[in-house]
Formats: sequence, C-alpha cells, structure tokens
Amino acid sequence: MPSYRETYQRSLTDPARFWLEAAEAISWYVPPTQALDDSRPPFYRWFPDGRVNTCHNALDRHVDAGRGQQPALIYDSPVTGTQRTYTYQELRDQVALFAGVLAEQGVVAGDRVVIYLPMIPEAVIAMLACARLGAVHSVVFGGFAPTELAIRIDDAQPKVLVTASCGIEGKRVIEYKPLVDRALALARNPPDVTIVLQREQAVALMRKGDLDWAEVMATASPRPCVPVAATDPLYILYTSGTTGKPKGVVRDNGGHAVALAWSMTNIYDVHTGDVWWTASDVGWVVGHSYIVYAPLLIGATTVLYEGKPVGTPDAGAFWRVISEHGVKALFTAPTAFRAIKKEDPLGRALARLDLSRFRTLFLAGERLDPATYDWASRVLGVPVVDHWWQTETGWPICANPRGLDRVPIKPGSPSVPVPGYDVQILDESGRRVPAGVEGAVAIRLPLPPGTLTTLWNADDRYVSEYLSRYPGYYLTGDGGFVDQDGYVYVMGRMDDVINVAGHRLSTGAMEAVLAGHPAVAECAVIGVADDLKGQVPRGLVVLKSGVNTDPDTVCAELVQRVRDEIGAVAALRQVNVVAALPKTRSGKILRRTMRGIADGKDEPMPSTIEDPAVVEALRPVLRSRR
Ligand code: COA
Ligand code: AMP
Repeated sequence: MPSYRETYQRSLTDPARFWLEAAEAISWYVPPTQALDDSRPPFYRWFPDGRVNTCHNALDRHVDAGRGQQPALIYDSPVTGTQRTYTYQELRDQVALFAGVLAEQGVVAGDRVVIYLPMIPEAVIAMLACARLGAVHSVVFGGFAPTELAIRIDDAQPKVLVTASCGIEGKRVIEYKPLVDRALALARNPPDVTIVLQREQAVALMRKGDLDWAEVMATASPRPCVPVAATDPLYILYTSGTTGKPKGVVRDNGGHAVALAWSMTNIYDVHTGDVWWTASDVGWVVGHSYIVYAPLLIGATTVLYEGKPVGTPDAGAFWRVISEHGVKALFTAPTAFRAIKKEDPLGRALARLDLSRFRTLFLAGERLDPATYDWASRVLGVPVVDHWWQTETGWPICANPRGLDRVPIKPGSPSVPVPGYDVQILDESGRRVPAGVEGAVAIRLPLPPGTLTTLWNADDRYVSEYLSRYPGYYLTGDGGFVDQDGYVYVMGRMDDVINVAGHRLSTGAMEAVLAGHPAVAECAVIGVADDLKGQVPRGLVVLKSGVNTDPDTVCAELVQRVRDEIGAVAALRQVNVVAALPKTRSGKILRRTMRGIADGKDEPMPSTIEDPAVVEALRPVLRSRR
C-alpha cells in the first residue's frame, strides 16, 4: 500500500501533478491538461479545460465496460417490506428515461431541479438524471418543513420539482404532497412543473399541471449524457449557517468526480464490485457523496436503506443488512450506534449472523464519543474509523486512510489530514499555534478538488463567511488542536451551528422562529449535550411585559412553531420562560456560558458579564431536563 505520509506530502508539494494523476480514474470527453485555475483568488477552479459528464462516469461507463449486469443499487426498505436490486444497466436505463422526462419539461444544462424525496431509488434516479443533462439538482431533506423548502426553492429557482406522495418515518407515513403544495404557495419563484411519484402508502392529490412519475416515464424517450465543463455545477446543497438563511453549497462536476473516486479507494478501501453501505439520507451531504456518487463512480454496489437503526423492526436491522447483502464497509453517524447500543447493549442481535465480509465501520457527522467507539469496536470486532468533514468539503478533511499504509487509530481523533487538505490550527490573530494548543481549524487555500466552489448566487457571502476571517485560509467553523504526531482533534463548532443526531441545524434559524411569536421579547437557543443525539436544542425566552398567557402554553406554541416552520428534524422539545437572559455589557447574549451550565460544566463567569445575578437565577432552569 502507498505510504500515507509520502502521499500527503506529494499532494501538497505538487498538487497539480497529484490531481491530474487522480483525474485519470475518470472518463473525460476532453481530458484536462491543467489541474488548477488560480487566476482569480480566492475563487479556485479545478480542471478548467476538462469536459465530462458525472452520470456517464457513475453509470454508462460501467455498462460500456461490460459490467451492466453487476448490481449497482440494492434498495432495502424494512418500512415497506421491499427489496429491489438494480443492475448498472437497469439503473442507467431508468436514469436515461427520467432524463427524457425532465428534458421534455424543458430542462437543459444549467437549469435547476429541486428534489424532495425520501430514501427510495427514484431519489437516486432523479439526481443522476439531472447530472445526465448537465442540470443542477438541489435535494431537500424530507424532515424540513414547507417554509424551509420554500426558502430553498426561491434561492435555487428550479424549473421542475420532483417529489413523492409520502415518506415513511419508522411506522409513520408522512404525506409529502401537502407539504410541497404549501411550500409552492409560499415560494415567490415556484417551478412550472411538479412531478409526483405515487407510492402505495399514500395517494397524493394531484393539482393542475402536476405530472405522475409513472405516467411520464411510460412515454419518455431515453436521453444521452450531455458533456459539460468540469467547472459547471452538478448540485446545490443547502446547509445551515449561523444566520437563519441557509447557504447553497455549490459542487462542480469534474473536481467532485475525481475527489470522490480517489476517496473511495484511498480512504475507504472500497473498490469495483464491493458492496458499500452508507446509512444516512440522500438529503444530506453524506448521502450525496457516499450513497449516490462515490460508490457508483468506482463501480461498487451501493445499499439504499429506507429504515432506522432501531424500530424497523429492531436493533438488529443494521446487522441484518450487512449480513444479507455482504456489505464490506458501513458509513453512518455515531448517533445511530448510540441508538442501537441503548436497545441492545450486549449486541445480542449480532449472534448467529454472518458478518464475515464486513471489514470496517466508518463514523462521521458528529463527534465520536469514546463510549460509542469502544462499544462498536467490541461488538463488531473490526476497525472503527472516525473521520471529520462537512457539507462544504463534500468529502473527508481528516481520516484514517484505509487504502494507504495504515496509520494507527487514536480514539478521540479523526486521525490525520487527508491528502489535499493543508489543515492548520490558528489563534485569534491568525498565527499557527503549537501542537496541543486549541484554536480555529482552518484549511490553507486552495481547497482540493470536490470541495465547494462558492455559494449559490452568493459569492460575497462565500468570501465573508469562510475566507475573510483568515486571508488565504478556509474557515471550517470547528475548533480543535493537532497533537505531536499530527493527529487532529475536533472539539466542536465555534459558531451557532449545532449537530442533532448527525443533522446540522442552526440555532439562529430557531431563534428567528421563536422571536416571531407575538409574546416573545427576547430569546436564545443553545445546543446542549444529549446521550442519544449528541446535542439537542433548548430554547430560553423572555416574554414581553404585559403578556398574560400561561408560560406553559407559550412554550408549547413555540415548540410547535419550530416544528411547523423548520421541521420535526429540529427536535426542539424544551423551551423555558425566564426573567432575563445573561448578556455582556455590550448586549451580547452569553450563549456559551448557558451551554456550559446546561452541560453541567464548571463554567467560569465571563469578565464582560453585565449582571452575574441573571446567570445565577438561570442555573436551576438550565440544569433541569424535561
Ligand atoms: N422526513 C420526515 N421527518 C423526519 C425525517 C424525514 N426524512 N427524518 C427525521 N424526521 C423526524 C423524525 O420522525 C422525528 O419526528 P418526531 O419528533 O415526530 O418523532 C424528528 O424528525 C427528529 O428525528 P431524529 O432526530 O432523526 O430522531 P429520531 O428519534 O426519529 O431518531 C435516530 C433518532 C438516532 C434513530 C436517528 O436520528 C438516526 O437514525 N440517525 C442516524 C444518523 C443519520 O442518518 N445522520 C445523518 C447524517 S450522517
Ligand atoms: P455537516 O455539514 O452536516 O456534515 O456537518 C459538519 C459538522 O459536523 C462539522 O463542521 C463538525 O462540527 C461536525 N462533525 C462532522 N464529523 C465530525 C467528526 N468526525 N468529529 C467531530 N465533529 C464532526
């Protein structure tokens, strides 16, 4: 196996050569001769003269190479009792047909298509059909409410929206069409057409102009792949920032395909023909990169699982899927393992199952706590690999690259910087700090291929949110340190982003919803530690003087508001009415202090505090859990 250290050094000392070599794993209409266009810093573009099609690389080229009969996608849905395998040829044909459907609706290269679908093969088909035409998909996670969907529609301005009659959450059927109709009514720029997949579990009420997926597929003609510039956008994926307005992360075609293909073999040690399973959702970046694109780009078989780690039907569900489909490696969030551990602490459900083909468990999306690491290592008996990345980067920043000579695993650290990423820890003034000292985790520009190129329609925001704090660096938003051996430790977000069950959410967005309630004068939302979900949000509100409503009623209304306006996934269940919020003398709410107290830490009183008595009064409230 190639050496990690040597590979990493090469990626930083001669990135052009490194990535042009990696680009050979991709099939190009016009192979790139130049690796990086750095003529317009801080905007960098990879493979500026290459022409490519991502769908061709994910499907057609495997069929052309004679692997058409190999399984591409295994759909395993305990919530509907369905299993279906698509070969590469079948998936290619379905995608080509759906590309025909979209083309008939006038979708051409560069047009946007919003996809609001649950974990069903049609989600993958719709995404790849966009890629086939050079259109830009924007998948919205099903747990988001109509207001959030409308915000994304208005920003992306899609020509078409693709949805289904329902999603299934455990045992609950969630009707999507009423949510979509409400979002379309709220949107200022609704698309012309909505395509609706009718599922057995719910019938969507069709409105004038809505198209039925099955009907349009029955009459569609397949479309070929459209060559696009490597630098053209493949997708927009909205993610939470510090403000209420989500950020549309833009991914290109060429850099993305090269980086993901490289990551599959070098980081995950997964190859053509292997069975790979990412238990996440296509609505998140983990789903985009490692359910859909990366495994297909390298000709592996990807498992699409419509179910939960527990309750569909029990805590043995993950082991069943691994054993039944011969999964070589699983990628999920630690929270899924905490849920399994809670129900089956001794791992009894594993007994008698054949997991002999299972080699590695990859965990990311939130901090991997030592108890979960120990438990997963013990019950599975395979390496448990923590790795760290984010929506913006699209693929790991730090990992233990399993396809290179293996550096030792150190529990508590997502290991070492991945080739291509020059990770540095910076202090307040932008100076590099010595080993062991905590600071802001930043990445020296240019970022490697596959990372965000900008924010959709918001170049300025891209620069101001990520690139201005430390000129020449990308700010990850996480704090952490590097040890003497070069291992990175990620200690958590330094901004108002929280991570709930591996789902990234903005406390700022929740505060905006609470502040919209007529009885609320002031509010704060903080993320507090939770045994199962890692973090959960908690709201604290000060009511306007003269409000006579019972505080419990207001709190219940506030919880419902966040559910209605952001979505169930926000999981805000506790809001407390308080007399005052602690502030600095300049009026800044001391969220960090409140968070520390709520987490039971011995939180020092900040010197800038306006009135320490406010904090004292809050202590019992913050320590209480309902
Ligand atoms: N569509 C509609 N609603 C959704 C949804 C979706 N796609 N995903 C979640 N929700 C709802 C849930 O039903 C739940 O609703 P409720 O408040 O009415 O019960 C709410 O959003 C919160 O969901 P979640 O945070 O997922 O909590 P949970 O208690 O349902 O499940 C886990 C907890 C740990 C089992 C679950 O979060 C899980 O499987 N996590 C795996 C990790 C993962 O996929 N992370 C993604 C990034 S890698
Ligand atoms: P998302 O954009 O949803 O993937 O969330 C990215 C954020 O999740 C990161 O900025 C981190 O705060 C957190 N995160 C992801 N993976 C890890 C990890 N392995 N360890 C610690 N935090 C993580």
